[in-house]
Amino acid sequence: MTHIAVLGSTNMDLVAYVAKAPQRGETVTGHEFRTLPGGKGANQAVAAARAGADAVSMIGAVGADAFGTQLRTALDHSGVDTDLLRTVDTAATGTAHIVVDDEGGNAIVVIPGANATLTGLAPGDEGLIASADTLLLQLEIPVEGVLAAAEAARRHGVRTILTPAPAQPLPPELLAAIDLLVPNEHEAATLTGLTDPHAAARSLLSQVPEVVVTLGSRGSLYAARDAEPVLVAAPHVTAVDTTGAGDTFVGTLAVALAEGGSVPDALTWASSAAALSVQRPGASASMPFRSEIDTQANGGAS
Ligand code: RIB
Ligand code: NA
Repeated sequence: MTHIAVLGSTNMDLVAYVAKAPQRGETVTGHEFRTLPGGKGANQAVAAARAGADAVSMIGAVGADAFGTQLRTALDHSGVDTDLLRTVDTAATGTAHIVVDDEGGNAIVVIPGANATLTGLAPGDEGLIASADTLLLQLEIPVEGVLAAAEAARRHGVRTILTPAPAQPLPPELLAAIDLLVPNEHEAATLTGLTDPHAAARSLLSQVPEVVVTLGSRGSLYAARDAEPVLVAAPHVTAVDTTGAGDTFVGTLAVALAEGGSVPDALTWASSAAALSVQRPGASASMPFRSEIDTQANGGAS
């Protein structure tokens, strides 16, 4: 029984697809607009559910509006438990305003809305966290809320995985409550001042016991205090939309590790899932199911 809990953001992604993102003061005509479920928290929850976790629970907040209803329904349909996804009447559902270019790269403005109300734990949250194997955290909600959840997990011996995105400096007490930190290169550099991912990972090990630095199309790097670093390459694919690739990686990785998989196998599996997701539009909408991940990870056609 693998139970993954997630505390984090739930956003509606408003995505403009365009050949090349506009510069300041420029107007360009794009070729498509899509409204898709997103938010780093909800994305990680969907990734874990599709990767085959037995149970996934989302702690978060949406507004009392159409986007909130649509996002709750999307999570329910993905098999994510939304009992602790609050509907608040003080703020609108979070939105992410995303421009995706023809190389699959993106630029994103997030308006937190209801996500900003997650400043601490609500009744039921700690009990849910205590019942999980792993708690997934990101930084699209107030850091006080992330810290409260990480400390609750620590009290109950629940493994914590933090994606430090969007990049920002972190209070030391938060890192002290994290078991596995999964930054991308940019986030690792923000946290350490070091642009070399190996050096950044080594430096982060003074604050957290395990680190995975995601390297985009170059794969991922695992470092731990008591083990040799592991570098796993990513499959070569052509990206159409990389939005949520990091969330796909983390949600999948969490399932593999909770199932007791080895680190190299878990990284291979997570990279395979991320590689599949970048070949399709959208964040959670593009995430692969377990059988697809297995096929990709075993070297099957993508
Ligand atoms: O990590 C990807 C997510 O970041 C998108 O779904 C968007 O909502 C932004 O929050
Ligand atoms: Na995608």
